Amino acid sequence: MHRITVRPACVRFTRDIKLYGHFIEHFHRQIYGGIYDPGNPLSDADGFREDVLSAMRQIHVPVLRWPGGCFVSAYHWQKAVGPTRTPFFDKAWRVEDPATFGTHEYIKLCRKLGCEPYICTNAGTGTAEEMSDWLEYCNLESEGEFARMRIQNGAREPFGVRYWSIGNENYGAWEIGAKEAGEWSRLVTESAKMMRRVDPSIELSAAALADVEWNVALLRRAGPYLRWISIHKYWNLMAEENDFADYGQVLAYTNDLETDIMRVRGLLTAFGLEKRIRIACDEWNLRGWHHPRVLSVEQGIAKEEYLSPRDLNDRNEDYTMADAVFSACYLNAINRNADIVGMACFAPAVNTRGCIFTWQDGIVLRSTYHVFDLYTNHLGDEILDTWETGAESMDVTGKDGHREQVGTLDVLATRDSRDGHVALAAVNKHPCEMQTLEICMDSMSGKAYRVLTVNGDSVDAFNDINHTGVMLTEGAWTMPDGPAFAVQLAPHSVNVIEFET
Ligand code: AHR
Repeated sequence: MHRITVRPACVRFTRDIKLYGHFIEHFHRQIYGGIYDPGNPLSDADGFREDVLSAMRQIHVPVLRWPGGCFVSAYHWQKAVGPTRTPFFDKAWRVEDPATFGTHEYIKLCRKLGCEPYICTNAGTGTAEEMSDWLEYCNLESEGEFARMRIQNGAREPFGVRYWSIGNENYGAWEIGAKEAGEWSRLVTESAKMMRRVDPSIELSAAALADVEWNVALLRRAGPYLRWISIHKYWNLMAEENDFADYGQVLAYTNDLETDIMRVRGLLTAFGLEKRIRIACDEWNLRGWHHPRVLSVEQGIAKEEYLSPRDLNDRNEDYTMADAVFSACYLNAINRNADIVGMACFAPAVNTRGCIFTWQDGIVLRSTYHVFDLYTNHLGDEILDTWETGAESMDVTGKDGHREQVGTLDVLATRDSRDGHVALAAVNKHPCEMQTLEICMDSMSGKAYRVLTVNGDSVDAFNDINHTGVMLTEGAWTMPDGPAFAVQLAPHSVNVIEFET
């Protein structure tokens, strides 16, 4: 039997709440027709969908990254500020952007959500000057033309944007304005230099990946200016083919949750920067987005080739307990690395592969939404030291046909620094078998516990308009029958076992 020994007094470290961040891009229906839907009766006076705002507040979104993503690498922020907006052609996604959602609307959204803004700048076609001008616009009180422009555009007070990233995936051939490692480190250095002369209080990140050459060049020259290094990860890549990995294939991906983090951690440590620079996993999702014939050399000609297929991202039946189980395992993994991973942004928050789907008359909370609801409302901020024995595994076959062993349970122990209550996240990955977890915690005997569970009646359970297949349910408070007790975990379930304070 899988046994975990928990010692509430042994706190490894405290996680940053920004691990539960989100990302929103000018892509398909994430913004226009998604969270920003002026004219919809469900939207407020500023055009934001109040049902979406309410759902995002429930999961306490701590940070929201914007405006991209690939979109940002040809984005010029000045086109979307001020009383007259000029629609522009978005060369990343080959659509016209109405420019009605820009910096002011984004900041207003973050204020409504009570979250930190996190702006990703254009390091594709953009320059150090354009990036630092954007920072002047947002953060300077009234000095210079850009701060004055902001005031003229209706915002007397600076926006105070603390988090900024230089570029998005500029290492990738698919990215507009892609760079070689050497030119990237110089551009980041010169951009960071200018930005920090505008506002030295900002925390800067730069686009990176788990690649030695890229990161050595970046860190050697730009390291002194950075507080973060950004990496992205999608496992089930579907840009060209909307080919979903099934539950068993998704389980194989759970053996690859920390690979990139460990590689970047190793490099930061080699540079002696592991106490100064943290990792921002600022785009992650089990499911890569579907957008055929646009990130490739061959572009689609007819809209049916490259535009209409994007609607396939909106099929709610595709987001099942596989997505919930995987996402919970990934959140466990970044909590276990919270000494160096300080931010993670689910990509995206709304529509596409997001946790919230919008339609004309309402929203659908997909399976992943309930995992964020469970984790942000019931897990603690302190990550506890634990000892596990008797772990069991199962045989799975990955999407590429390889067979491997995967652990059946993924467990994380936390403690709330405010009131000391202990809560364990426990994911039963097995598709059809109940798993027993024996919990040993001598210092908590006499405290009642309850099990909160995100689950459905099968691995393929999903939520849709007028269909509820996945829910968060609360178990009854129970007194353990001693310092060691067993909890039964349902197949394909995400659970939090929380103890009374
Ligand atoms: O598939 C969407 C893209 O994924 C984002 O725009 C980019 O940042 C990442 O490659």
